[in-house]
Amino acid sequence: MKYANEISKRKSFAIIAHPDAGKTTLTEKFLLFGGAIQTAGAVKSNKIKKHTTSDFMEIERQRGISVATSVMTFEYRDILINLLDTPGHKDFAEDTYRTLTAVDSVVLVIDCVKGVEEQTERLMEVCRMRDTPVIIFVNKMDRDGKYPFDLLDELEEKLSIRVRPLSWPINMGSDFKGVYNLYDKSLVAFQPNKKATDEDVVPLEDLSSSYIDEHFNAKDAAQLRGDVELIEGVYDKFNNEEYLQGKLAPVFFGSAVNNFGVKDLLDTFVDIAPIPRNRTASTREIDVYEDKFSGFIFKIHANLDPRHRDRIAFLRVCSGKFERNKFYHHVRLDKDVRFSNPYSFLAREKNIVDDAYPGDVVGLFDTGNFKIGDTLTEGENFYMTGIPSFSPELFKELVNKDPMKTKQLEKGIRQLTDEGVAQLFTQHGGNRKIIGCVGDLQFEVIQYRLLQEYGAACQFNSLSFFKACWITGPKDKVEEFIRFKSSNVVEDKDGHLVYLAQSEWYLNTERTNNPDITFSFTSEIH
Ligand code: G4P
Repeated sequence: MKYANEISKRKSFAIIAHPDAGKTTLTEKFLLFGGAIQTAGAVKSNKIKKHTTSDFMEIERQRGISVATSVMTFEYRDILINLLDTPGHKDFAEDTYRTLTAVDSVVLVIDCVKGVEEQTERLMEVCRMRDTPVIIFVNKMDRDGKYPFDLLDELEEKLSIRVRPLSWPINMGSDFKGVYNLYDKSLVAFQPNKKATDEDVVPLEDLSSSYIDEHFNAKDAAQLRGDVELIEGVYDKFNNEEYLQGKLAPVFFGSAVNNFGVKDLLDTFVDIAPIPRNRTASTREIDVYEDKFSGFIFKIHANLDPRHRDRIAFLRVCSGKFERNKFYHHVRLDKDVRFSNPYSFLAREKNIVDDAYPGDVVGLFDTGNFKIGDTLTEGENFYMTGIPSFSPELFKELVNKDPMKTKQLEKGIRQLTDEGVAQLFTQHGGNRKIIGCVGDLQFEVIQYRLLQEYGAACQFNSLSFFKACWITGPKDKVEEFIRFKSSNVVEDKDGHLVYLAQSEWYLNTERTNNPDITFSFTSEIH
């Protein structure tokens, strides 16, 4: 328990949302509270507005220069908070899903006008897979949105999680008057054009307080009292343990752009969010308090400057202490490696860091040694499990346009898929290469980067597959399946067999005809 003190000070989380719900705005407000930035507007949105490659490349170039935006570390009330950035664009959702394996909890932002959106549901599915504790922030209460009780029902229904409001809005839209905090029984009145500060928080003994009658009209006061009575009657008391188990999501209401309800959220986050916890590895459970270091790579960020092909690999520390210049065991390559310039991301600047503790994220210079899911230890052979690889939904055959550059193309596509940009499949028993992606934009990015960084020109031919399914089962049954379906069977980069289905109908037919074979849409990277 050498590092118990360091561990108890750390909280690592991600803010997730469907694009436009207010993730960037909320991130910025958190950083302002944490003193990590001084002015609003300092956080660049990583949103892709024009949906073009050049737009994406421009954003990536900016981000590439300032890799610091991927992790933002700040201190708030003596807690060291690591906030991990997640791309909002759905074409890059895999990157977000993997980042979620490196955090201990999440804040999910919902737009009160739109409610639960497509990407919200998918992100929540990933949280549920790992029982990640979730706090929900219902944003944009200064707009006329859905009725709060209806929103709570929608959250429970569509996100399959029980919810418990910990703050409650007094009206919404142009009539929005403020938020009552059920957790610490305080009230903050909203004034348009004036942003809530500490002083505006009024602690109340209980809801019969005359403060409410003095500051709100009779209708609003009665409504608030009625709503709160209903909440206390309908919802169980907030149970922190259930939140930590990922079974119950506390809900806050506010308006990020007005900095309203954000401090309530951050203060409660600091009170209730989990500190780093144990992790499951291939051979055993890794106790976060172990003295020996372990960690894994969850993200690789390419350097888009064509003169430097080096990359930054993001390491999440899971146990022990990571030290600069010390040798660690790279389990997959079975070799010892050390790092002379590891980065930390304190105050949004890249700083060389001498040591890091569980929950921390360290940026490591990489010249091609890492792929996503790689584990570093102090000698023991195990790897962290639970890093998902999702079934792509778009498939294209990679065609080499310049036979003189075959080697560069092979190397480029291997390295890009190691970064997790897309998935590479190879024809079973052949050499045809198929790239699977979640969004079209990824193909353009690959084509652009293969040319820019590796000098390899390629072309993509569309293929009409609809899903990739990893297949497992008794050897003889699998072999028989491959014989009949050879043109649809490919291997992923680790040699696992994958069936590419042309349509849902084909997939269902194969499932029915092959009851001994398991078809799965996700595979763990290991
Ligand atoms: P994202 O990262 O989740 O994609 O969302 P982002 O924070 O960029 O917010 C999306 C839009 O919603 C922005 O407007 C932002 O100003 C607005 N917004 C965020 N919080 C609130 C809120 O509490 N109330 C209201 N009414 N709007 C909010 P935009 O027009 O797209 O960009 P901008 O030009 O205002 O920056």
